[in-house]
Amino acid sequence: MFNKRVTVALTGASGIQYALCLIEALVKENVQVFVMISKAAHVVMSTETDYKLPGQAAAQESALQDMFSAKPDQIKVFGKEQWFAPVASGSSSPASMVVVPCSTGCLSAIATGASNNLIERAADVALKERRQLILVPRETPYSEIHLEHMLKLTRMGAVIMPASPGFYHKPQYIDDLINFIVARILDHLGVQQKMVKRWGDSTLK
Ligand SMILES: Cc1cc2nc3c(=O)[nH]c(=O)nc-3n(C[C@H](O)[C@H](O)[C@H](O)COP(=O)(O)O)c2cc1C
Repeated sequence: MFNKRVTVALTGASGIQYALCLIEALVKENVQVFVMISKAAHVVMSTETDYKLPGQAAAQESALQDMFSAKPDQIKVFGKEQWFAPVASGSSSPASMVVVPCSTGCLSAIATGASNNLIERAADVALKERRQLILVPRETPYSEIHLEHMLKLTRMGAVIMPASPGFYHKPQYIDDLINFIVARILDHLGVQQKMVKRWGDSTLK
């Protein structure tokens, strides 16, 4: 019924808009999205956007379904200790997971295999199963600790994709900057996107 299944975890770094834009784009491309939202991500969301999601996963699920006009079951939201969720096991987790935005705290937990909540466990599963794991950290400047974690994770096969948009497409609006990052994530996921003109391609936009 769906073309693909992707896990998207939202953590408490600045840039929640990247995650919302990514979920919207995935829904449009008929991808089923498994969503997890950390407590801090909710705080960032209400700070940076006009959205405030309800507390319970089931209520968050219907709020996101409405927000993105998703099909029934297209968006599934899992709570932080929902250990029986498919993302918690290599036998049923999706082939791809994106942590966007990825807090430095979450980066550290993934790099050390903490697995203290479902986001960390799902990322741990992605690493152990050698699945696609895309991390979109946002902090500036990066400390040696952050850089060490990123180096360790990239060596394990994760893709570190910092939320640092380019400016060579002459962005006019904040959405242009958001789209830049989301387009790169979609490219890595193998999901079609026409948000941003490709380097050297005059046929798009
Ligand atoms: C408005 C706001 C913005 C934040 N921005 C960042 C950030 O850009 N990068 C970061 O690593 N942490 C940032 N934090 C701090 C994290 O939210 C905090 O370390 C939290 O414990 C991360 O938890 P999580 O990984 O479970 O989401 C921010 C917090 C708030 C409230």
